[in-house]
Amino acid sequence: MTLEHSQYFRTPKPRPIQPPKLHHATFMTMDVDAMVAWYELAVGLQPVYYAAHAAWLTNDEANHRIALLRIPGTHPPIDKPHSAGLHHTAFEYPTFDQWLDNYVRLRDADVRPVVCLDHGMTMSMYYADPDGNGVEIQIDVFGDGGLSKEWMWASQEFAEDQVGPQFDPESLVVARAAGLSPEEIHRRAYAGEYPPAQLRTVMTFDDPWPSRIASDPSLLDGVGYPATEEA
Ligand SMILES: [Fe+2]
Repeated sequence: MTLEHSQYFRTPKPRPIQPPKLHHATFMTMDVDAMVAWYELAVGLQPVYYAAHAAWLTNDEANHRIALLRIPGTHPPIDKPHSAGLHHTAFEYPTFDQWLDNYVRLRDADVRPVVCLDHGMTMSMYYADPDGNGVEIQIDVFGDGGLSKEWMWASQEFAEDQVGPQFDPESLVVARAAGLSPEEIHRRAYAGEYPPAQLRTVMTFDDPWPSRIASDPSLLDGVGYPATEEA
């Protein structure tokens, strides 16, 4: 067969998709300072550029991972927990002990998770930033994205329950101090053996805006435009 008669000559193969990697998320905010301080404390993000109107933050090799924009005209969200849009961003530790140490560090700084869930493939602590955006801090219990992905795709457990049981992070600290392995702690958490004293019944984050507006009603005016701020 000559080249001209080849299927591949007449119908070129489709170009394989070379997917780009997820790089950063950008939030609109009314208080750049509060957000920068919180993300630095919670997950070690540091400003690469920081001004009153915007900041770009990173905690790894990327030039930024989270950006914050204080855009003129921005106003408080209405019913933030039930507004369509972002639910949470997520950060991952490579080891169980680093992850648990971060919980203790934040607890001692009085920053506590809203809810903690053993999803089966990750153990996840969910925090809320000052604007009410969720921030998940997790470990992959498989320690391997491929195995983790396979479990989500193929397991009966995930097909039946995509959330998993809540756990009390203090119980994990006690269990680890008592010498239980991360694998054993995950097994027990996923079996629901470390329930929190108070189960959270909703998968939304609390709305910080009503109390913020109560203490500073001028927030309702929104972020001013440069021309009106000068006037
Ligand atoms: Fe998540």
